[in-house]
Amino acid sequence: MQPIEKYSIDELNMGNLDFWAEGTDVREGAFKTLRRERPIAYFELPVAELAEISGFDIGEPGVHVLTRYKDIVDASRQPEIFCSGKGATSAFDMPMEMREYFGSMIEMDDPKHKRLRDIVNKAFTVRQVRQIEGYVDSAAREIINTIGPMGEVDFVTECSSRLPLKVICDMMGVPESQYDFVFNASNTILGLGDPEYTQDPDNPMPQLMSAALGLTQLATELAEARLKEPTDDLMSALVNAEVDGQRLATYELGSFFILLLVAGNETTRNAISWGLKALTEYPEQRKDWMANFDEMQRPAVEEIIRYASPVMFMRRTATRDGAMLGDQEFKEGTKFLLYYISGNRDEDVFEDPYNLNLRREPNNHIAFGGPGPHFCLGANLARQEIKVMFKELFQFLPDIEMSGQAEHLQSNFINGIKHLPAKFTPIESAA
Ligand code: HEM
Repeated sequence: MQPIEKYSIDELNMGNLDFWAEGTDVREGAFKTLRRERPIAYFELPVAELAEISGFDIGEPGVHVLTRYKDIVDASRQPEIFCSGKGATSAFDMPMEMREYFGSMIEMDDPKHKRLRDIVNKAFTVRQVRQIEGYVDSAAREIINTIGPMGEVDFVTECSSRLPLKVICDMMGVPESQYDFVFNASNTILGLGDPEYTQDPDNPMPQLMSAALGLTQLATELAEARLKEPTDDLMSALVNAEVDGQRLATYELGSFFILLLVAGNETTRNAISWGLKALTEYPEQRKDWMANFDEMQRPAVEEIIRYASPVMFMRRTATRDGAMLGDQEFKEGTKFLLYYISGNRDEDVFEDPYNLNLRREPNNHIAFGGPGPHFCLGANLARQEIKVMFKELFQFLPDIEMSGQAEHLQSNFINGIKHLPAKFTPIESAA
């Protein structure tokens, strides 16, 4: 991957939605320019245009884009000054109508955030995730068995998306019959704006709300079943939990469910897809990893996650006047977009940042967020899924490689690959 610095600092406008339709190399080039020349850069989002399309009030247009590692980490470390509670997953202010569906703990501050996180935290600890390794292995094996005889596949739809989807659905108690629905709904939620996932670009909100409503209905049905008959899945934990002495309201349950499902399956799939693309482009490193799988698995998985940086930003908002980043002072209400993908290419922190280095150590990337209360809940699970998927691929489809152009998601939020042709020598089955 090599950045292309197509725009000068004064031409660059990340508030322009068309910018995000440019290639990933142009995007990387823009971040490089910003890190060097304007590491905290002010842009205006087209809120008037978006408000007209959506019919919602979505707040002020101005955002500050943070592109240097240090500023992103500094903001993440001070949640009392740079909060998540005014919006974290969206550059514009989320209207009330949407908060009902998308306003879960990722969009909250402590102490409420912590109380909600504690309900599910146990299921994502290193220890717990290690215990499900056998299960993740067999889920990956099942996928290999399905694609094995084909010899050629769309790696995203047939492979990389399947493992995280199955794992998080099983953890939440979602039956297999609903996997495709969940897959499509989460594509709509995180892919809205990309022409492939947007039915009506002039009025995309009904599609978004209908995907969210569908997931909430599914959550409600599962919740009712778990109330009658609890199991050991996460939905049972959610329906039986009490926060501040009260059970979660239906909308809280729904938004929690949406967060876990969407975060659990839209992110890891992109890391796996970027991983296959990178391994194809760096055959020597792939050979090295295949020959030394166990020894290299920890740094290799971290490097794939850094390289992919599937979640490009989270937002923070200044809670007071005089909030400082570097030597600059900001007013209460200032919005910051913490571009992790840019921090992960910061030349002051990572040597040769645009190249894959599966033996990179140390690798203190911030793809799971900076240090702070919102650090990715699913990080251990994601690492496990990526490791297992490549272990199984190397064992059963050892010559699998990208065999055509990757199709990238058009988004300012997710560094997604929608389609990735791949080919391999077919096998009867993964015994
Ligand atoms: C490579 C895969 C993944 C990446 C790159 C990723 C990235 C992130 C990032 C950047 C954040 C926000 C951090 C912040 O605001 O400071 C986050 C939060 C979160 N992630 Fe992940 N994630 C991944 C996989 C997963 C998985 C598999 C799950 C499983 C459910 C998950 C669940 C969550 C949840 C629930 C939060 C919110 C945590 C909170 O607010 O306390 N993520 N993730």
